[in-house]
Amino acid sequence: MEPIIEVQNLGKSYRKRRSKEMIHAVNGITFTVNKGEILGLLGPNGAGKTTTIKMNCGLLIPDTGTIMVNGINSKKKRLAALKHISAVLEGNRNLYWRLSVRENLEYFAGNRGVSRRNSAEKVDDLLGKFNLKEKENELVNRLSRGMQQKLAIAVAMLADSDVILLDEPTLGLDVETGYEVRELLREIARDYQRTIIISSHDMDVVQDLCERTVIVNKGKIVTDDKVDNLLRLFEVRAYTIKLGGLLTDQQQQLLKGKFPLHEYIPDTAQSLLEIELAKSEEIYELFDILQLEHTPVEAIDRKTVNFEQIFMQIVREEYKHELA
Ligand SMILES: Nc1ncnc2c1ncn2[C@@H]1O[C@H](COP(=O)(O)OP(=O)(O)OP(=O)(O)O)[C@@H](O)[C@H]1O
Ligand SMILES: [Mg+2]
Repeated sequence: MEPIIEVQNLGKSYRKRRSKEMIHAVNGITFTVNKGEILGLLGPNGAGKTTTIKMNCGLLIPDTGTIMVNGINSKKKRLAALKHISAVLEGNRNLYWRLSVRENLEYFAGNRGVSRRNSAEKVDDLLGKFNLKEKENELVNRLSRGMQQKLAIAVAMLADSDVILLDEPTLGLDVETGYEVRELLREIARDYQRTIIISSHDMDVVQDLCERTVIVNKGKIVTDDKVDNLLRLFEVRAYTIKLGGLLTDQQQQLLKGKFPLHEYIPDTAQSLLEIELAKSEEIYELFDILQLEHTPVEAIDRKTVNFEQIFMQIVREEYKHELA
């Protein structure tokens, strides 16, 4: 794996208004992003995500630390480093509201040094890919929020930069458009081999799109891991079992002895058993107890964890650490 972004001990503080107090928005962050990776930058409000993204795309100068982009130190060779990066920030600030969709794309293509001949082809390609062909002559300020967001991402694609940074790309989008934007980002990473860093509150985006996530809280990294690893780590072995009848007293005694974490809701027609296993293999012992009386099993559901629960748990644990 080849790193494309290497962030080392990055820090940025802001001075609070009307007081001398400093806010350490980003407080010594170190992480690496590999070529072609989709990285999720997660964290609660005020964690430092936007500040981190803005430092990476050159909109904010860090107080401390270094950012290497494709091996180029962004402090020493700012323009050379920034050539590799495009960013889509919150609020679509990278669009001209009084120009049409096509005009925006053409303008920014020129701006990024795309030749006239290549520009037309590229603009058409992006209009098609982002499903904006029908709206090509519409002014940006008449577009829906979702279409503006798609156009903002299309504009970021124009420069052919290796890395695309997106701050909250699905914020304020309806479910369907949010899904469409997710699909587009996935395609961009796959078909154009771009490296993507996404800051988001939307855990579906992270679970669905990102291979790895860096979770920040109060300006520091609390977790840097593969999403799959986190899902596995936090996977609970909790099952809900529907039984087609009652358990006998003897079965209930056995359950109590073997599975302290269970709840039994008796019902002559359909009892419910909610049970947490310490190891997956314990399911066989559970079935032995059910088999004693040939208790019919009608359904088994494994409780799944989603990324949102994991995220909440990680952030909550952090707070506990701080209080301790
Ligand atoms: N221009 C600024 N002046 C002063 N303080 C700022 C400024 N920008 C951000 N901050 C503070 O820095 C901290 C980190 O802010 P940042 O916007 O990076 O967080 P975030 O993770 O993007 O949050 P959100 O999820 O709400 O977008 C917050 O405490 C915020 O209030
Ligand atoms: Mg933010």
